[in-house]
Amino acid sequence: MDKILGLRVKYIEEMLVAEAQGFEPEGTHETWGPTLHQGVQTWIGLELQTLQTPYSECFRILQLLKIKPYQHIIDLGAAYGRMGIVIGGLYIKNSFTGYEYVKSRVDEGNRLYRELGFSRCQLLQQDLFAQNFELPMADVYFIYDYGQVEHIDHTLRQIEKIAYKRPVKVVVRGKFTKQIISDFHPWLELKYEGKHEEFFSIYTAYIV
Ligand SMILES: C[S@@+](CC[C@H](N)C(=O)[O-])C[C@H]1O[C@@H](n2cnc3c(N)ncnc32)[C@H](O)[C@@H]1O
Repeated sequence: MDKILGLRVKYIEEMLVAEAQGFEPEGTHETWGPTLHQGVQTWIGLELQTLQTPYSECFRILQLLKIKPYQHIIDLGAAYGRMGIVIGGLYIKNSFTGYEYVKSRVDEGNRLYRELGFSRCQLLQQDLFAQNFELPMADVYFIYDYGQVEHIDHTLRQIEKIAYKRPVKVVVRGKFTKQIISDFHPWLELKYEGKHEEFFSIYTAYIV
């Protein structure tokens, strides 16, 4: 799908790996990201199809969420913004913001959104762990193991504050985030644990 759409994931990721190898020739996908991006785990060198959620899964998540018109979806650590491509193409009354640390990913995703005329979708370059970053309100937050444990925990605490003001759903992909939720975030109630998909879970905020 990336190829059909003209999303240059392979080329940009190869450039990032080459840059990282310049600093750390013996590195791996565990170390190159933090080396290149001030300690932030940006998953440079990770297998391309592991870095991002498959399009079919993005669609399945949106179907299960039963997204209503005008609801806003945020992807925390969005890479090239695949979720935004599915929303832009198939959910014409919804909007999407993806936050991503790596500028070249953000630029490439936004280039494609512009080309496809998806004006309701945007990627923003942002360190989610930055002290001055305030998480905007949304109906749905999507997290796929975006960084280190303390970063994900910090973001979940920001979502918790928002959940006191409005209903939110949190979609989680990846075992780290699920573990953090079960250990430290009892306010999130598991609503759907992927059966056939097995790769993601859907939570709603349970705040009394
Ligand atoms: C595993 S990828 C998931 C991409 C996308 N959410 C998806 O599911 O297709 C995680 C992304 O989070 C980004 N990331 C990691 N730490 C971050 C931070 N502190 N701020 C913003 N983005 C971050 C990484 O660069 C990477 O692109």
